[in-house]
Amino acid sequence: MAMSVTIKTPDEIEKMRVAGKLASRVLEMIEPHVKPGISTQELDHICHEYIVNELQAIPAPLNYRGFPKSICTSVNHQVCHGIPGDRMLKNGDILNIDITVIKDDFHGDTSKMFMIGKPTVLAQRLVDLTYEALSLGIQEVKPGVMLGDIGHKIQSFVEKNRCSVVREYCGHGIGRAFHEDPQVLHYGKPNTGMELQAGMTFTIEPMVNAGKRNVRLLPDGWTVVTKDHSLSAQWEHTVLVTDNGYEVLTLRSNESL
Ligand code: MF3
Ligand code: CO
Ligand code: CO
Repeated sequence: MAMSVTIKTPDEIEKMRVAGKLASRVLEMIEPHVKPGISTQELDHICHEYIVNELQAIPAPLNYRGFPKSICTSVNHQVCHGIPGDRMLKNGDILNIDITVIKDDFHGDTSKMFMIGKPTVLAQRLVDLTYEALSLGIQEVKPGVMLGDIGHKIQSFVEKNRCSVVREYCGHGIGRAFHEDPQVLHYGKPNTGMELQAGMTFTIEPMVNAGKRNVRLLPDGWTVVTKDHSLSAQWEHTVLVTDNGYEVLTLRSNESL
């Protein structure tokens, strides 16, 4: 699909700020509900009602290319795009909840990891290092930097820690459309790829596996899992390139990068 990178106007940036903030509020709202015994479809229901009724926004995943639910829930070895269902969360699970809302025609896209009960040492380490990878990627962002610099930073940090970066899915430009150009790869070489310009908005959303990087698509057509069944983690923010750096549009109130 031909689509060029959009540079947002000040008006559009303000709308992106609003959409990003609303998406982050969904993750804050759902946190106390994420406990052993709740199913992922119950989490979907709570988020759906909150987005529609409280935020007066639209859950972007619902019916997006046929996706049947309002949020993505990916548990343990599920990498991304997990479909909420009757699976009950249990002690030791790790869960990614990915929220995308549309407000006033603009999208905000963000995800975070949740630990159910007490995580294993391996799971805690994976989740923490994936957050660190996202943070390092974001800290690269400023005009003149290239996309390959971001990817390289993430990949080298992850691989130094003996984990792997998923290659088949990437971050993306975002605005009036859910997925715009450019593609934001979470691996790459310094000084390659598109140069960042103030006014660009895109996501960074590394998927990191505790084992090998290879993934498989389940027969449901959506859920992506690790081929070797190793644990996988992901964190996502929507970022604006500013004149001298970045602004994280989906920052949560208790979060600092
Ligand atoms: N929120 C995901 C992303 O970060 C995309 C989900 S598409 C869906 O790009 F259809 F699965 F919802
Ligand atoms: Co995204
Ligand atoms: Co997302």
